[in-house]
Amino acid sequence: MKALEDSTLQVILDSDEILWESIREKIKIWYDFHKRNLPWRNTQDPYRIWISEVILQQTRVAQGLDYYRRFVDRFPDVSALAAASEEEVLRLWQGLGYYSRARNLHQAAQMVMNEFGGHFPDDYQKILLLKGIGTYTAAAIASFAFNEAYPVLDGNVMRVLSRLFAVDLPIDSNEGKKALTAIAEKLLDRSAPAQHNQAMMEIGALQCVPTHPDCPSCPLSACCSAYALHKVEDYPVKSHVTKVRDRYIVYYYIRCKETIWLHHREEKDIWHGLYDFPFVELDHEPDDAEIVRALKTILADDGDVVLHDHPVRKVHKLSHQTLHVAFLSVEIENPVPALDAYKRVSVTDWDRFPKPRLIQNYLQR
Ligand code: ADE
Repeated sequence: MKALEDSTLQVILDSDEILWESIREKIKIWYDFHKRNLPWRNTQDPYRIWISEVILQQTRVAQGLDYYRRFVDRFPDVSALAAASEEEVLRLWQGLGYYSRARNLHQAAQMVMNEFGGHFPDDYQKILLLKGIGTYTAAAIASFAFNEAYPVLDGNVMRVLSRLFAVDLPIDSNEGKKALTAIAEKLLDRSAPAQHNQAMMEIGALQCVPTHPDCPSCPLSACCSAYALHKVEDYPVKSHVTKVRDRYIVYYYIRCKETIWLHHREEKDIWHGLYDFPFVELDHEPDDAEIVRALKTILADDGDVVLHDHPVRKVHKLSHQTLHVAFLSVEIENPVPALDAYKRVSVTDWDRFPKPRLIQNYLQR
């Protein structure tokens, strides 16, 4: 596909003001009629808006709502979040993935307390200083909480704009992002940035959906370039395919009477700060015999072991890794010294610890 040249972008940006105003107006009318009543839309509290935006970067509104409610119930303001333990924050985040975002939320809350005197920063540039906050989240907070004129550009908005103007530059390239940012800035309704940004996200989420959008019912179809070209689903253009790494992990669920052992993930790796089980990682998919043999590395060959079952195998996909996991359930008569490297917890207690969904599901099986 032909790249959008600078001159083409300029042609778009130089479109008559009547066109921009008409797009703004159509989006506004559509939003007034179709908007969902969501709790973060009924507040101007920057803390709550921030929490909602970070949760919504991970998940859809339907699932995000529950997480949001639980989070702000437990941590109603920035000082409550700052005072919590990281483990408790991760426990509330459990199941959402991208746990570094939860750790960043926690550290940013502490920054607000220590460096901003407990007051959430009230302008875009200062908001950007907080740990984990990039241009998208800063624009969302600055516009929704303080009505500052910054356009938000999330995946939904990028899809709307790339279709509306048939932007052929990949949205995952710097040029593509620059072009869409310029278009979003031009389109922004400076008299009502908060409402305009919510409306852009909502029309992307509900109307201009990734596949099979109902274009005839869209208020923008008459001015949508992709629709005129019969190429709506060709937009947005993406350049790179995410490289996915395969990993082979064997987890040992080791039980001794009413206790099990958990491993605290302190390494710089996925799931930092969470708990899983003692494990070995291999460079290939092991057969059952190898899984049993590798248990020696964990138990240092000490003690008698009872195997209850064959290994249970699971494939767990993350954004950049596919984990080929086997779980082996093992019973030991007495604790062995080699297990002192792990955390021993009672079987009634494990639910208190933050764990990846894969581990939680295994425990609840
Ligand atoms: N996705 C990201 N931010 C959102 C918001 N404020 N409302 C609805 N969906 C969203």
